[in-house]
Amino acid sequence: MQTVLVTGGAGFIGSNFVHYLLGAEPQARVINLDALTYAGSLENLVDLPAPERHIFVQGDICDAGLVESLFQQYEIQVVVHFAAETHVDRSIVDPGAFVRTNIQGTYTLLEAARKAWSAAPQAPGRTFRFHHVSTDEVYGALKPGEPAFSETTPYAPNSPYAATKAASDHLVRAYGHTFGLPVTISNCSNNYGPRQYPEKLIPLMIANGLAGRPLPVYGDGQQVRDWLYVEDHCQAIWTVVRRGVPGETYNIGGGNQPPNLEVVETLCAILDEYQPAAPYCPHRSLIQFVADRPGHDRRYAIDMTRIQQELNWRPSHTLASGLVKTAAWYLANQGWVRKIQQQESYQQWLARNYSQRGDMK
Ligand code: NAD
Ligand code: DAU
Repeated sequence: MQTVLVTGGAGFIGSNFVHYLLGAEPQARVINLDALTYAGSLENLVDLPAPERHIFVQGDICDAGLVESLFQQYEIQVVVHFAAETHVDRSIVDPGAFVRTNIQGTYTLLEAARKAWSAAPQAPGRTFRFHHVSTDEVYGALKPGEPAFSETTPYAPNSPYAATKAASDHLVRAYGHTFGLPVTISNCSNNYGPRQYPEKLIPLMIANGLAGRPLPVYGDGQQVRDWLYVEDHCQAIWTVVRRGVPGETYNIGGGNQPPNLEVVETLCAILDEYQPAAPYCPHRSLIQFVADRPGHDRRYAIDMTRIQQELNWRPSHTLASGLVKTAAWYLANQGWVRKIQQQESYQQWLARNYSQRGDMK
């Protein structure tokens, strides 16, 4: 058995990763450490392929005592670190939470991992890996015509979220360089797919579209993201953990770079097909242009050459196939969406983020 500590495994990508890993690796046992913030839910962990190999621990990655006790209690060989505050708009409203979890939390985890790893007997064949899941936002924004982000693009984070992720990347790299901790980092572009909290663009548009609510497009809607289906990301992370070189970074992207407005219009067309009798069909009539995000990064794009050539990984979904699958999941799981929509904290977030932007009913 290989014991894998997954942090943030009740959130969007983390829970998809736990589903993926338990299904793909019969020898993997998962210790899932998650604080269950607004973004995490145990509902994301129902129907796991092998629940007997999954241990859930509710707790904070900033809690050094708890994190150290997990390393002592379980013989952890791999850490896959997802836990973070992740929404750029929230980082503009409350950067402090991002500094705490993304920087202090990553530091706490690194310290506990370093202690456990340096105390463990170095038996032949016994390997250790600390994998840090990061973002392409650490590279800043691309100007028109500029080449896509590669692993050597200088860091230039623009939002408080991106700045805290950049800080955490530097800490991880430093622990590899200074202490020899076997670390890898992956910097990935925008994910979408099942179980994504409906504050991010794609699930928000689906959830609002299904409810006949306005679809708020920031600014002119011509910002560009590099969209990756979440299952492809999970596969890429596990590929890096198994075959990536310690101390190295791998960029992960989807190779899909339409402007936001096109993504929203595509989703509207999918919803039209699923719900032709809806009173607000065509769904594109729900689109509203609203005030832009402060400091909004205009364009991201990922150069995937390294992970393709060195680790032979490439995404298997196009944006068209991924969006159809994603919309189908939200339609089949409307109870999951409605529960979030009924939460006071969610309604407060929508009011706070959108009421000042104008043009929203
Ligand atoms: P998410 O917001 O959906 O989930 C984050 C999870 O972390 C939640 O389950 C939450 O409860 C947990 N968490 C938050 N603070 C915690 C703490 N202090 N201690 C323990 N658990 C805590 O996030 P996501 O979109 O799944 O992103 C996961 C990781 O992937 C993040 O590190 C993010 O920076 C990175 N990433 C995300 C994307 C994307 O498009 N979503 C792209 C690239 C990288
Ligand atoms: O690039 C990877 C990053 O992608 C991750 O590291 C972040 O955790 C994740 O949140 C995501 O950041 P973005 O800011 O790109 O994602 P978001 O879904 O919030 O926004 C995507 C684009 O859509 C962005 O240009 C802003 C725009 N947008 C977003 C929302 C929520 C809108 O036009 N309207 C909206 O209501």
